Amino acid sequence: MAPPALKESPLPDTPISTVLLVIALHAEAAPLVADLRLTQDSQAVFPEGVPWVKYSGTYEGLNVHIVTPGKDGIHGCDPVGTVPASLLTFNSIQVLKPDLIINCGTAGGFQGYREYGVGALEATPVPKLISALQLKTGVLTTGDSLDHVPEDVVIMKANDATVKDMEVCPLYMPFGGAAIAYVAHLLSVPLIMLKGVTDIVDSPAATDEEFLANLSLTAHAIQRTVSKALQFISGKKLSDL
Ligand code: ADE
Repeated sequence: MAPPALKESPLPDTPISTVLLVIALHAEAAPLVADLRLTQDSQAVFPEGVPWVKYSGTYEGLNVHIVTPGKDGIHGCDPVGTVPASLLTFNSIQVLKPDLIINCGTAGGFQGYREYGVGALEATPVPKLISALQLKTGVLTTGDSLDHVPEDVVIMKANDATVKDMEVCPLYMPFGGAAIAYVAHLLSVPLIMLKGVTDIVDSPAATDEEFLANLSLTAHAIQRTVSKALQFISGKKLSDL
């Protein structure tokens, strides 16, 4: 069965006013929060008891919200993975009503980079943004852990994977796709993904070591790219992207 495009209805013909950035790790969000001068607001937008965090403000005339899943109540770590990401995204869309979601963060890359891949669930097309920022495009795949078993690599390569993260899930999985792309599709909110590569998935190097060694540098690179993307998006409609 052919996978659905992320946004099937016509793109709204009004300027984008509210952008929701969904980011998994605090370390990925922190440089952007600082650069965009967003403030953590205590407004009760999330259900009582969840550890989720929201930073908001205006940037280049856009209402910008960054949401992160906060810290796990039991283990104290960032609650990464598809389940926290999908719950956070679902709630944030209900409350903040964004015109556009940007999922940004780190991902593992593949050797033999493919510039253009075939995605099974298509993101919102933004060809002008891609060319203005000279971004590379490709197929993003999602696992629920940083590591992978050999069978994962076979499946990811068979689907033309360019990078792998832990929360977006653009591959079409009718029952397993409980993550950001699934939720955005469910609620018909346009979504783009901006990823910075910290590690090479199909290399013999230890993924966690590579990831930690490159996390800070990559988070700052992501911050610069997302800031430029927001500057480009400001005052434009989706059809201008
Ligand atoms: N984020 C950064 N590197 C990753 C990897 N190899 N897998 C999943 N998420 C990642």
